[in-house]
Amino acid sequence: MLMSEVTSMDSKQELINGLNQDLAREYQAVIAYTTYAAEVAGPHRPALRAFFLEEAADELKHAQLLADKISALGGVPVVEPQPVPQATGARAMLEAVLAAETETIARYARRMAQAEELGELALVAQLHEMIVDETQHKEEVAKLLDGFPE
Ligand SMILES: [Fe+2]
Ligand SMILES: [Fe+2]
Repeated sequence: MLMSEVTSMDSKQELINGLNQDLAREYQAVIAYTTYAAEVAGPHRPALRAFFLEEAADELKHAQLLADKISALGGVPVVEPQPVPQATGARAMLEAVLAAETETIARYARRMAQAEELGELALVAQLHEMIVDETQHKEEVAKLLDGFPE
């Protein structure tokens, strides 16, 4: 086997591992948004519940895309979510979500570079679209948090 083939197999495995961590975090996001939608209380409940439910649906789509790609690459999609951070109160929920979305965008930017290196161009395009979605989530949460009571 050529050295370059070994390197490429290593980086493919690294990509699969990274995508599986991303998948565990998408499942975390589905659970977090679903739970926050159920639990959020106070005068802002109607708007926040609707927002959380919409986000949950987006994150589930992301999870499906990632699981499909991991399987297509010859990997096995994880079935365990990353643990969901506890958040009590609407503001804490929004702050937890803002932190998660920010980290997810950074993770997908790294994953795009890995996919690009391996010539996985459809995955590059999908990650690009997911970065667009997560950035919209992040910007909406930032707007909701702006001036939100403590
Ligand atoms: Fe997502
Ligand atoms: Fe998101």
